Amino acid sequence: MSGDLRKQLEAHAGLALIYEEAWAEIERAETTAGLEEARVKHLGRKSQLSSLLRSIPELPAAERPVVGKFGNQVRTVLEAALAERKKVLEAAELERRLSRESVDITLPGQPFPRGHLHLITQTLWQIEDFFSGLGYRIAEGPEVETDYYNFTALNTPEGHPARSLHDTFFVEGKPEVLLRTHTSPVQIRVMEKEDPPVYVIIPGRVYRRDSDATHTPMFHQVEGLAVDEHITMGDLKGTLEAFAKSMFGAEREIRLRPHYFPFTEPSVEVDVSCMICSGAGCRSCKYSGWLEILGAGMVDPNVFGFVGYEPDEVQGFAFGMGVERIAMLRHGMTDLRMFYDNDLRFIKQF
Ligand code: DAH
Repeated sequence: MSGDLRKQLEAHAGLALIYEEAWAEIERAETTAGLEEARVKHLGRKSQLSSLLRSIPELPAAERPVVGKFGNQVRTVLEAALAERKKVLEAAELERRLSRESVDITLPGQPFPRGHLHLITQTLWQIEDFFSGLGYRIAEGPEVETDYYNFTALNTPEGHPARSLHDTFFVEGKPEVLLRTHTSPVQIRVMEKEDPPVYVIIPGRVYRRDSDATHTPMFHQVEGLAVDEHITMGDLKGTLEAFAKSMFGAEREIRLRPHYFPFTEPSVEVDVSCMICSGAGCRSCKYSGWLEILGAGMVDPNVFGFVGYEPDEVQGFAFGMGVERIAMLRHGMTDLRMFYDNDLRFIKQF
């Protein structure tokens, strides 16, 4: 045998060894990490095969074609085997992970914290419900109002104490624009647009420069207005008595005390018999047996004049109440500011 042939056979045999060892390790790898180790070892830059292929130029001339041709074939075949094995192992690993991480969809879910309506909203809705049941419609108006609607058209002439800078938030540089101090201006807006008969209640936010245990700069009112033929003060009293019973209990009674409002004549303040002592007298009612709940009266003919109603043909009554006050009385609260402190320990109780 010539020396060349022997060298070629030896080169063949060397490649065969490299191939078999690498192939066996690729097939034996049980994890992708193990497979990667085999790749580095047998096909990486420092592997026997790579070194051999790199050294071709220095090999004896007889070996070069053998190593060049078969060496590259060996590499191609091993790379294909590696890729194939990798696919199999990855699939198996995914399968294992999926079965390990399976989700038990029958477990109870995370509770989602659920809120509820603020006590003021609940009280507002209850007041609206009561009057809707009597056939009243709900009307609304702007919170930024003009002097005309908030005062003038409500028969509140310039110089009236209710207009004093002390109570009202005015818009800077625009003395005729203000934050409404009550919901009464919406009475005017409704009557300007609609002919009698009118039966509306007007819920909404109002603003006054006031802050203490029973006043916040923003609070809520519900206004009522009924205009029709033959409306009397008896209708007003019956309506408010039914309202007081629905809000404070069937045993409650009301009384009307003479008062003054510019837009009603006569005007009254309405008290409800104390729900704590049932009228016997206690600390809450200051031992009077009565609690003030709202202002009311018969619509002043002058107000009808401002909206073009005929005072000889129609009469009306009106009333206005503070929603916070109603809620406080119902729940025995002593500080109105608690409504707006946003302390959940308070809010959650209702
Ligand atoms: N607007 C009055 C206030 O804020 C409440 C009021 C009193 C409204 C008598 C009325 C009423 O409609 O007739 O103090």
